[in-house]
Formats: sequence, structure tokens, C-alpha cells
Amino acid sequence: MTTLEFVAMKQRGERIAVLTAYDYLMAGLLDEAGVDCVLVGDSLGQVVAGEESTLPVTIEQMIYHAKAVRRGIERALLVVDMPFLTYQVSVEEAIRNCGRVLQETGAQAVKLEGGHEEMARTISRLVVSGIPVMGHLGLTPQSVHKLGGYRLVGRAEQEQERLLAEAARLVDAGCFSIVLEMLPKGLAGAITRAVPVPTIGIGAGPECDGQVLVLPDMLGLNEAFSPGFLKRYADLAAGVREAVSDYVREVKEGVYPGPEHSYE
Ligand code: KIV
Repeated sequence: MTTLEFVAMKQRGERIAVLTAYDYLMAGLLDEAGVDCVLVGDSLGQVVAGEESTLPVTIEQMIYHAKAVRRGIERALLVVDMPFLTYQVSVEEAIRNCGRVLQETGAQAVKLEGGHEEMARTISRLVVSGIPVMGHLGLTPQSVHKLGGYRLVGRAEQEQERLLAEAARLVDAGCFSIVLEMLPKGLAGAITRAVPVPTIGIGAGPECDGQVLVLPDMLGLNEAFSPGFLKRYADLAAGVREAVSDYVREVKEGVYPGPEHSYE
């Protein structure tokens, strides 16, 4: 899978399935099951490290997890989130940090949040430097304090116009795809029809070209998180709890290890 193929999928009207992953084993399972793109999201701050937001995530943490994910993937496109303050300070820092992520992890693209003019200038320099960029509009979690919380964005007419303009700006800057997070479905559909690159929605309705979910959320591992847009495809928390309590009981009762698990 390449960034060009990603765009071609939109042209052919093929929907794109994206999931996040943070480790080797899960990445391998996702790849085998046919996801088109694996995103090493900075959501790892919350779902792996237990932080309250993505703000504390560092570039070293992203590189560590992205290298593990890379080893698990044969087919899917690998995209890595650039963490807070690694691409906002200056264009030079952005090129160095994004280039470092591609060099050290083997990822094919990076994802950056925001669509204002300064961000578009940075993205355009990255793309000119040979670094493919996935954009991210709507609820941009690295700006949670500016937005005043994790919430739907784009109900007001002014906000809708701004988001449509930002999407066009990201396309002009050279983004090969744009994540749309927490937008009303009509607005996400309008953006999707207006841009030539695939939109990947999360909480943005069915009219996007593709969908992305955070893996522990859709596997039912993150029981505390249950927004309206989320569909749980498994109940792994219950499965893990049951397996671990069986193990604890068997160890305490002397049932495990049995003769079949012991060496002569
Ligand atoms: O960090 C992340 O996992 C993301 C997805 C929710 C798109 O940005």
C-alpha cells in the first residue's frame, strides 16, 4: 500500500479501513485481517500510557512504538502521528522531526493536526522535502485546551466555512489524505465531495472515504470510553478478565501447570 494507492482508492470509490496500533503483535493481526492503513496514533498517550491527553507524548515514544508496528506490517500503509510541539515551532524543526520519524521507523507518512495558514506552509515544505503528510481537521486533540474539551466541531456556519477552507488549504499544501474527527456528518460529506484526496472519518459519519478507530476502543478493551460514534467489535476486557481470573484460580489450586505443561 502506498500513499498514491490511497488516493486511487478514492478515485475508484473504494472505502478505506484504518485502525491504530501501537505494538508488533497487534499490527501483524491488523495487517493479516486486511486493514489498508495502520496509524500509530498519539492516542497511545491515553490508551497505552494512561495519560489524560495526547499532550505529554514525546517523539521518542512515537518512534519506539512505530518501529514495533513496522515489524508487524507487510501490506498496510504505515502512518505515524507527530506529537505536540514537534512540528509547530518552526518549519525547520518540523522537517527534521518528521524526516527523523520516517528515517528511524520505516513509516511511509506522518500525520499533523490543524489547517491554518502556518500549518499549510509547513506541510507544503514537508511534501516538497519528500515527506507525505496526512492532515487532521475538526477535533484536533492536541488543541483540546483551545477547543475547551473533546467535543463535536463544526455546527456553527462560520466553523463550517472555516473547515471547508482548511480542507482545501491542506489539499493545496499537498496532503494525500485528511482525517476528519468529530464533525456533523453533512459537513464531513461536503468536505469529502469537495476534496480530491480521501477523507478518513472518526465520529464524522458514513460519507467519508474511509474510517479510523482507536484499536483498544473498538476491541472493547477501553471500557471507560464510550462515545456515541464508537462501535465495539469485541469485548476483550471481559475475555481478559475471565482468562486472568481462571489462571489465578488454577495457580492457587495447583491445577496449573499440569503434567502436559511440565518437562521430564
Ligand atoms: O491519535 C490517534 O489515534 C488519532 C486517531 C483518532 C485519528 O489521531
